[in-house]
Amino acid sequence: MPKPLPGAATLAALAILSSCSSPKPEPPKTVKINKQPFGQTRNGESVELYTLTNKNGVETSITNYGGRVVTLKVPGRAGKFADVVLGFDSLDGYLGNNPYFGALIGRYGNRIGKAKFTLDGKEYKLAANDGANSLHGGVVGFDKVVWKAQEGTGEEPSLKLTYLSKDGEEGYPGNLSVTVVYTLTDKNELKIDYTAGTDKDTVLNLTNHAYFNLAGEGVGDILGHEIMLNADRFTPIDSGLIPTGELKPVKGTPFDLTKPTAIGAHINDKDQQIQFGKGYDHNFVFNGGGGLALAARVVEPKSGRVMEVLTTQPGVQFYTGNFLDGSVHGKGGKAYSYRSAFCLETQHFPDSPNKPDFPSVVLKPGEKFESTTIYRFTTQ
Ligand code: GLA
Repeated sequence: MPKPLPGAATLAALAILSSCSSPKPEPPKTVKINKQPFGQTRNGESVELYTLTNKNGVETSITNYGGRVVTLKVPGRAGKFADVVLGFDSLDGYLGNNPYFGALIGRYGNRIGKAKFTLDGKEYKLAANDGANSLHGGVVGFDKVVWKAQEGTGEEPSLKLTYLSKDGEEGYPGNLSVTVVYTLTDKNELKIDYTAGTDKDTVLNLTNHAYFNLAGEGVGDILGHEIMLNADRFTPIDSGLIPTGELKPVKGTPFDLTKPTAIGAHINDKDQQIQFGKGYDHNFVFNGGGGLALAARVVEPKSGRVMEVLTTQPGVQFYTGNFLDGSVHGKGGKAYSYRSAFCLETQHFPDSPNKPDFPSVVLKPGEKFESTTIYRFTTQ
């Protein structure tokens, strides 16, 4: 027997049902770059916070105040996300006293001995802001200025920051125009491309000063993290942390991190270099020829988070948060305690302007400075 035709009421019900099930709901649109106000500097300049999200849900937020990486949320072995960089919830924290959390560092990252150098026969005097030496670009380095920001338009979310460091700023010669592009790739990498040009001979050393804890910021110390540095040599320092000029083999010293080693394994050894650094606070000299290559690999065994660092730079400052002492309160009011983070600041060697045998950090008009560093996150 043929089925009776549906009545009007049944048709109406069917229409409602079909309007619910089709067309299929759109998948939530991934916000790739989200821009929000982050406050004002003490001079009244407005500052923004840009949140970049990749297709895997990995997220980083970056402010154009000092080009600082404010958050970086990456998954662990079990898929749980954690914010792996130290920092603050608001701009105020960054304006206050803090050890360069997440910042872009320049014009000269790391130390210049006796706060002076000679270039083309002329002596340049810098601010002595670290004992007798100059550290991280002086009193107002690139970490404390407002960068111009422009959102990228490529497939992967990116943020372009530019800054013009004027001739004579912090004692350095030449108008230096700097561009830094942060890209959050779909391979879960935070890629940092630096370029710069000058109108007079100058020196430069650009880096990023993110403080990492792969267990999550504010979660204890980093002594159980295992680190591998692809460096057979390091640059030993004097008691003011200025390189002596020697490139010393790491073999047989606490600086042999060529095989995965717990950061805590030798950090308190009775070794003069370790004592000068109060732990690790040394520049390592990468093996390899200057192309983009694996420089470091760090594993946090409990969460399974892995960070690999690739760079075109010749060295890295491996710093183990020896000056953190719980006095700085970061995100959520957490006290950032002794050795609760490590830094891998890819760089040219400290005090290169005074060390003619170190790779040159001089940039001349007409030349283009270029460097790339990648922080890649995986799990194991
Ligand atoms: C760098 C230096 C350290 C320390 C920190 C900031 O990593 O090498 O000695 O000054 O910056 O506290």
